[in-house]
Amino acid sequence: MSAYRIPFNRPSVVGEELNYVRGAIEGGHSAGDGPLTHRCSEILSDWVGGGRVLLTTSCTHALEMCALLLGIEEGDEVIVPAFAFVTTAGAFALHGAKPVFVDVRPDTLNLDENQIREKITDRTKAIIVLHYAGVACEMDAIEAISLETGVPIVEDNAHGLLGSYREKPLGSFGCLATQSFHETKNFICGEGGALVVNDSAWVERAEILREKGTNRSRFLRGQVDKYTWVDVGSSYLPSDILAAFLLAQLETRESIQRRRSEIWQRYDTELALWAGAQGVGMPRIPEECVHPAHLFHMLLPSEASRTRLIAHLAQRGILAVFHYQSLHVSEMGRKFGGFEGQCPVTEAVSDQLVRLPLYFGLTNAEQSDVIEAVLAFSTD
Ligand SMILES: Cc1ncc(COP(=O)(O)O)c(C=O)c1O
Repeated sequence: MSAYRIPFNRPSVVGEELNYVRGAIEGGHSAGDGPLTHRCSEILSDWVGGGRVLLTTSCTHALEMCALLLGIEEGDEVIVPAFAFVTTAGAFALHGAKPVFVDVRPDTLNLDENQIREKITDRTKAIIVLHYAGVACEMDAIEAISLETGVPIVEDNAHGLLGSYREKPLGSFGCLATQSFHETKNFICGEGGALVVNDSAWVERAEILREKGTNRSRFLRGQVDKYTWVDVGSSYLPSDILAAFLLAQLETRESIQRRRSEIWQRYDTELALWAGAQGVGMPRIPEECVHPAHLFHMLLPSEASRTRLIAHLAQRGILAVFHYQSLHVSEMGRKFGGFEGQCPVTEAVSDQLVRLPLYFGLTNAEQSDVIEAVLAFSTD
């Protein structure tokens, strides 16, 4: 149990999760690639614009599969936002790539599209975009760079499922995209993820990589009469028990999304005046973007005021949290040549950002408590 009256996140059972889990076990197929895995994949494919979706054990593993599919080798480079989750870069570094850190825009906190072109070299194998809070990167500009240079786009779409840019779903822009169903995401199964393969030429190899380097997926479809070791690979396939939980969540899309959007909107409306008066930055959603209400963040004027706000909320039993630590000045980031001052927006945001509780089961009364507590805080 959380020590906080209002935790930052609380996973919910929203519909048939437990019945479906029971069904997966009683149905006799609890390993991966069973009927529930397939049903989740179909639904997700529909949501992300039709690419082939392979469920994975995590978004991190889906990112690793991207590195393998791209044929990343020692000495290759990938463009990554400096303000990102560790494995947005780490999954590629694990396979030998050097992450080339690019700063983010101060408004959306997304990869600054104007700083990408100058970082591309003959060794650049991919531009990794992360749609922070599910608000799309400037995809028109980034797609133009990709087209001009021939460097493919990979979307880390951990935040962006059901978001869109100019009415096109996030997860459909990269040749590959990744999703997360970690317990903090909109749709969860504890730990889980998916790889979206938008270039059909890669589907078969992706299936092999996910199935320990074997052609077992073809065998299960009756396309070969035995399966064998055909390539490198690992165990990236989640069990149907996890898929059962996830399927029930995906089926309650409307209620999950309605509730998350209500909570998000209420924070935005009721904190706007206070934020303006206190010099606090609120989320900015460009007109061409629809976001999936994944997280609600604010930018405090300084690290000291952020620390005080978190402590002020904690005293009232509310857990608010920050992220991400700048990748380029982390212990590992420095090994790739990162240095202080290299990505000033990232460095500032990483000191100033705070996220408020936002989850399906947050009640109106609990949210009122959070809002009242924030309104009672002064940044002076
Ligand atoms: C942007 C981003 N990418 C990747 C991940 C990793 O996801 P997973 O925990 O499913 O590996 C996260 C996790 O929170 C994330 O926020």
